[in-house]
Amino acid sequence: MSTEQQGGQKTAASNIAPATGKLGVMVVGLGAVATTLIAGVEAVRRGLAKPIGSLTQMGTIRLGKRTDNYSPLIKDFVPLANLNDVVFTGWDLFEDNVYESAAHAKVLDKDMLEQLKPYLETIKPLPAVFDQYYVKRLSGIHVKKGKNKRDLADQVIADIRAFKKTVDRVVVIWAASTEIFLEPTAVHQSIEAFEKGLDTDDIGIAPSQIYAYAALSEGVPFANGAPNLTVDIPALIDLSKKNAAPICGKDFKTGQTFMKTVLAPAFKARLLGVSGWFSTNILGNRDGEVLDDPQSFKTKEESKLGSLEYIFQPELYPDLYKNIYHKIRINYYPPRGDDKEAWDNIDIFGWLGYPMQIKVNFLCRDSILAAPIALDLVLFLDLAKRTPELRSIGIQEWLSFYLKAPQTAEGLYPEHDIFIQSMKLKNTLRHIMGQALITHLGLEYYD
Ligand SMILES: NC(=O)c1ccc[n+]([C@@H]2O[C@H](COP(=O)([O-])OP(=O)(O)OC[C@H]3O[C@@H](n4cnc5c(N)ncnc54)[C@H](O)[C@@H]3O)[C@@H](O)[C@H]2O)c1
Repeated sequence: MSTEQQGGQKTAASNIAPATGKLGVMVVGLGAVATTLIAGVEAVRRGLAKPIGSLTQMGTIRLGKRTDNYSPLIKDFVPLANLNDVVFTGWDLFEDNVYESAAHAKVLDKDMLEQLKPYLETIKPLPAVFDQYYVKRLSGIHVKKGKNKRDLADQVIADIRAFKKTVDRVVVIWAASTEIFLEPTAVHQSIEAFEKGLDTDDIGIAPSQIYAYAALSEGVPFANGAPNLTVDIPALIDLSKKNAAPICGKDFKTGQTFMKTVLAPAFKARLLGVSGWFSTNILGNRDGEVLDDPQSFKTKEESKLGSLEYIFQPELYPDLYKNIYHKIRINYYPPRGDDKEAWDNIDIFGWLGYPMQIKVNFLCRDSILAAPIALDLVLFLDLAKRTPELRSIGIQEWLSFYLKAPQTAEGLYPEHDIFIQSMKLKNTLRHIMGQALITHLGLEYYD
């Protein structure tokens, strides 16, 4: 439904290219999250289930004054690709097709998978760019061979170009394992240095960065569902801007960090102090096995630790948040599979410093929470690519809503508060569609 039909609202911004034709989604890593995403989209397309947790599919957006009573679905308001036009492919170092991999992941029940089997079996992984140095707990044979990292990047570019011939637009998303912790070095500082590093096999360039480089070189948006460094470096930020290929932060914000970025803003809004926050997790999927390696865990830990520090702003509130003891543990515990359990013990204090405790016990399904996030990121990055105002700015900070480690322009602190992130996302949509922003001031109702 066009906005014009609705009570004199402004017409939609006409400079956003329509989402016509097929949207090709190339997923790096066809594991639990990826197969839950792909099977889920197909289940929704067939009317077997609802896309719960997806803002693009189920969310609404209020437009105009509160008295206008007008809140269309986001997918009717902004020109997003229709799920029927989404086509999937991907890479993995295991040869399993999406059905086999989904069966192995055991996220979706057998009944559902059997119904989707003929479709899921058709999606077979392309050989991966993989090096065990960056993910210690995995080894596979379905891997590209090349004389150096440049050669591997060229092979990924060839994969993207071949897929582009079959669809109208492409987005690449990393849903592969967490790589070891890497810090930016000289090779990451410019496009030139990075390209030289591809030629000389620089150890600072991880496989995720080879995929990202390939996508951005082709003008294709790239999302990162894991906490790897990947595009968080000047070279790839520059490439993103140069080729109008949007990027965003990293690491899907699903379970425990999602809860943190809900609860912490509430404590801060009420000026309740926090002396300690202990977070522990048990999970038994392949992700848990990879995170059992200390170097991959370090990458995850850094990504999870950031949120509280930024939300609480201890430099502004030293009496409340200066000495928080924040600890995170992830334990690999095979019996749980993808059904993670997270415990948070939060030591808070109130009036006159009196202590209290809050316990959160979240029994979640990791990939069930991650799949709608992956879907929304893909659809919104495709929207950003078609939006003249967004496509060449590089980092899409408005997508921080979905990510544990938001990425920002240099000099800005990342915004972790989920409510601010949600407002930023919706106001960005209003803005690109030429609608008035909503500030929640509301004084006009009392004139
Ligand atoms: N599920 C969640 O709630 C959640 C939340 C935040 C982040 N993540 C991240 O998402 C990623 C995927 O999680 P998952 O549960 O699907 O893990 P998974 O282990 O089931 O799947 C990862 C897949 O990536 C493949 N892979 C690894 N390196 C690759 C490479 N270089 N190229 C191609 N394929 C490669 C593996 O073979 C595996 O099939 C992980 O990094 C995880 O940390 C998940």
